[in-house]
Amino acid sequence: MSLLRFPRLGALAIMPKPGRVLPTLALLVVLSISLFFLRGTREASFLVPLRPDGGRGENNAWRNGAVPGKPGGLSHRPHLAHHPIDDLIKEARTQFNQLMGKQSLNLEQAASRYRERRGRHPPPGFDKWFEVAQEKKGIIVEEFFDRIYHDIHPFWGLDPRDIRARAHNQPFTIAVRNGKIKPIHDDKEIHFRMQMWIDLVERMMPHLPDLDMYVNHMDESRVMVPWEDIEKYAAAEQRKRVVIPVDEAIQTYSGVADVENDERYDPHWHHGDAHKFWDFIRDACPPNSPGRSVSSLDTFNSTIEFPDAPVPQYTHKGYVKNFTASEDVCLQPHLRGMHGTFVEAISMSTTKQLMPIFGECKLSTNNEMLIPSAMYLAENLRKDYSGGNERGGPWANKIDGMVWRGAASGARNKDDNWWHNHRHRFIQMMNGTTVASMEAGDVEAGPTFRLLAPEKDPYQLSAQKEGQLGKWVSSWSDVAFNNLLCHPPEFAPDGKKLRTCKHNDELFKVVEGMPFAKVYDWKYVPDVDGNSFSGRYRAFLMSTSLPLKSTIYPEWHDARLMPWVHFVPFDNSYMDVYGIMDYFLNGHDEEAERIAREGQAWSSAVLRQDDMLIYTWRLLLEYARVMDDNRDKLAYVADLTR
Ligand SMILES: *[C@@H]1O[C@H](CO)[C@@H](O)[C@H](O)[C@H]1NC(C)=O
Ligand SMILES: *[C@@H]1O[C@H](CO)[C@@H](O)[C@H](O)[C@H]1NC(C)=O
Ligand SMILES: *[C@@H]1O[C@H](CO)[C@@H](O)[C@H](O)[C@H]1NC(C)=O
Repeated sequence: MSLLRFPRLGALAIMPKPGRVLPTLALLVVLSISLFFLRGTREASFLVPLRPDGGRGENNAWRNGAVPGKPGGLSHRPHLAHHPIDDLIKEARTQFNQLMGKQSLNLEQAASRYRERRGRHPPPGFDKWFEVAQEKKGIIVEEFFDRIYHDIHPFWGLDPRDIRARAHNQPFTIAVRNGKIKPIHDDKEIHFRMQMWIDLVERMMPHLPDLDMYVNHMDESRVMVPWEDIEKYAAAEQRKRVVIPVDEAIQTYSGVADVENDERYDPHWHHGDAHKFWDFIRDACPPNSPGRSVSSLDTFNSTIEFPDAPVPQYTHKGYVKNFTASEDVCLQPHLRGMHGTFVEAISMSTTKQLMPIFGECKLSTNNEMLIPSAMYLAENLRKDYSGGNERGGPWANKIDGMVWRGAASGARNKDDNWWHNHRHRFIQMMNGTTVASMEAGDVEAGPTFRLLAPEKDPYQLSAQKEGQLGKWVSSWSDVAFNNLLCHPPEFAPDGKKLRTCKHNDELFKVVEGMPFAKVYDWKYVPDVDGNSFSGRYRAFLMSTSLPLKSTIYPEWHDARLMPWVHFVPFDNSYMDVYGIMDYFLNGHDEEAERIAREGQAWSSAVLRQDDMLIYTWRLLLEYARVMDDNRDKLAYVADLTR
């Protein structure tokens, strides 16, 4: 198996040269046939991401004409003309192929790419880390680990002893001593998610240096340092960034024993300001960003301020081009009244100090160190989040439309704020009846959103021009809540808690949930945030359906997933979803299938349990170094001294 993996990826490097397409295609055919027999069909499709252009011309308009009368095509003519999404797909594939050309195949390469990109030597223990990564068949591209450096860098601005002291003796800490995890008191009390991370770190034993890993066990993110402070810390990191002379390097970490008797550090948690959350956000936004210039809404009993056009910084003709930037709330001040996180989070416990906390998700303005979500680690235990081994059937057998089921999480669903919650908006925008009422001018039917004015609308959908948008949405959308999670809850006469409530009854229908296996009967599976990130994303990526993804919560894996190659990104306002569905349903089924297929194959190669191990291991080495008094000298240099 290990012999196969690297030659396969090596094929990439010789691919994109046009003059070589034929011989290379022949090579790929041979490779894919042999892989087919060796590894089975699912793995064989992994080859597909390596092809620059699917081996067919860009101009396949003739194909588009060949799908008349498809369901979902109501009132629509297929796109014969060039579409902005064509550009996005093409560009993303080129970028991804370039990235894959940078794979590190041996320790020397990995260490040298590290120095090139990070401006330092790798931390001691890098060799063991790489050995394990290779043994586990991890695909190592230095850029896949960019997130770690984004998260770690500010800590170079703190005194190392402060970092050790802040992490020491906190609740929910994984303490590594002498190559073992120190037993945690009150084992019975260990939260299920905590146990998942303990199991992950256990797999790195006995190779980690001593450290205290303080993990956020809550749903919401916790650390939000004002922008000016982070800038200071980041500048300190830049000043210290240097590839030191080899003979100055130290190999041994100093450990954390010196803080063992310190009192627990108090980071001054802020509680109870959940409805004023944007005021914390704005302090963490860059001074010149639009997010900085607005404060929290005084009341959520107010109409929403739906943006009247797409955000230019990260879109191309209305469609998300830079997914990372689309996660950045500082660029989207309207979200203060359009995302549950800023309306009334269920719990809030935030500090403005740079606390060394590990967490499964955060906002772009947060300063946690990201680790893989416990739900992803628990794939075999929590089938309600992962769908177990369900991956769905072949594309051709799927329903040509979109399905979503879930709860109205995001914010506390109350009668005087609910229309500000993003999930309520998503359900309404995908409800053809609601959309038809909005087209007819009845804005009270859809208090969660607005249709764009025709003169500012970059999408120019023919269904909308004909006043048929609602009817068209009804033809492909099957999207509904299975629980409204109302606050306060209402009860049936027999005392049973209801999944509905008076303030939502008229506009929302609550239906039964749907198992993943059934969800995958549809081609398009959107994924939007809940109280924070959505734990089903990894499962959707690994399915045969096409995930459409919108979020303000970056995750550990973002750098290894390429929008428009492995998934379809959409905006947090959701205004682009109609345009996206119009593109795919009307003449671009092949493109949809290809992204679904390549996303599945790629996720199965880089989002495995082993990949989460490899990522977290690397992060913990960096963490151990940055909190060490000798951090400027701790360096892996053996590859340079041989
Ligand atoms: C919300 O606003 C409406 C109209 O402005 C008002 O009638 C209602 O009493 C308000 N509700 C609350 C809970 O303040
Ligand atoms: C995408 O946005 C991020 C964050 O705003 C930025 O750092 C990055 O340079 C952008 N990428 C490109 C290709 O423009
Ligand atoms: C769609 O909206 C209509 C009226 O606006 C409502 O009656 C219906 O229950 C909604 N459907 C869903 C699935 O929420």
